[in-house]
Parts: sequence; structure tokens; C-alpha cells
Amino acid sequence: MAHAQDIFDRLKQDHDDHRAMLDRMAQTHGDSDERAKLLEQFTKDVKSHAAAEEQALYSTMLRKPETTDETRHSVAEHHELNEALNDLAATDMSSSAWMAKFKQLDHDYRHHINEEEEDHFPDFAKYLHEDDVQYMRRVFERRKEAEKADAQVTPEKKGDAKE
Ligand SMILES: [Fe+2]
Ligand SMILES: [Fe+2]
Repeated sequence: MAHAQDIFDRLKQDHDDHRAMLDRMAQTHGDSDERAKLLEQFTKDVKSHAAAEEQALYSTMLRKPETTDETRHSVAEHHELNEALNDLAATDMSSSAWMAKFKQLDHDYRHHINEEEEDHFPDFAKYLHEDDVQYMRRVFERRKEAEKADAQVTPEKKGDAKE
């Protein structure tokens, strides 16, 4: 059935952008402007994506008993991801630790978005109507724009994380 872009297509579009940014970041070297710029761009886009994804889609899926557990799992991964991004921003870009942390983040984030696309989204779709998924896409657009205007890179080592 032909339809306008729904919430799932829209989220996958961001995921593809994020995969491309990860590929580009992996090619950067040391304490370079390119690495710093890409990390800032990636961090702001991923943080605002995750926040808007929770507001537009996860809030509804948390309320449905059939999808509560898997949605909680994904929200927990968003928290871990934010911590990993903040930790990476607090790490010297010229150190080997930076690349090691980047590789871990790259692995964990790809796992997160693959799981969303392959497991969660198809499950969620079973409990949503065509109107819901169109409406959610519009909410996502609005919320991502607002979240992105406020998104920040907040360097914080994992061990320093406050409660
Ligand atoms: Fe997510
Ligand atoms: Fe996502």
C-alpha cells in the first residue's frame, strides 16, 4: 500500500545518516578538526533523535503491556548511549583510548539501531494503525527540531557520572 513516510521510515532515515557518520568518523585521525566536528554533529543528532523517538513513539509503546518490556530495554540503551557519547567527548582525541571507546560506541549503537529496525519496529507496528504512524512521524519532526536546538555535547567521564 502506498503511503506517506511513516514514523518507522523516518527513524530509519536517521539511522542510515548515523551509520554514514560513524563510517566517516572511523576514517578520521587524532586531534583533528574533522574528528571534532563529526563527533559534535553525531552527538547532537543522535541525542535529539533518541529524545524525539522516546516522545513520539516509545511513550505510546510503554503504555501498551505487550511492548512495555522491549521499550524499556531500548530506553535503557539510550541512557547508556548518552553516557558513552559524553565519555567520548571527555576523552583526548589523540589518545588510543579515544579510538577504543569510539569502536565500542560504534558497535553498541549499530546493535541498538539494528535491533530497533529488525525487532522492535515490526513488533510495534502490530499494535499501531496507519493514522498513528503518520501522526507519530509529524510529532517526531517537531520534537526532533526542538530537541536539536537544545542538544549539547557534554563531556563527562563515565566514572564522574552523577546520580
Ligand atoms: Fe533508539
Ligand atoms: Fe532510533
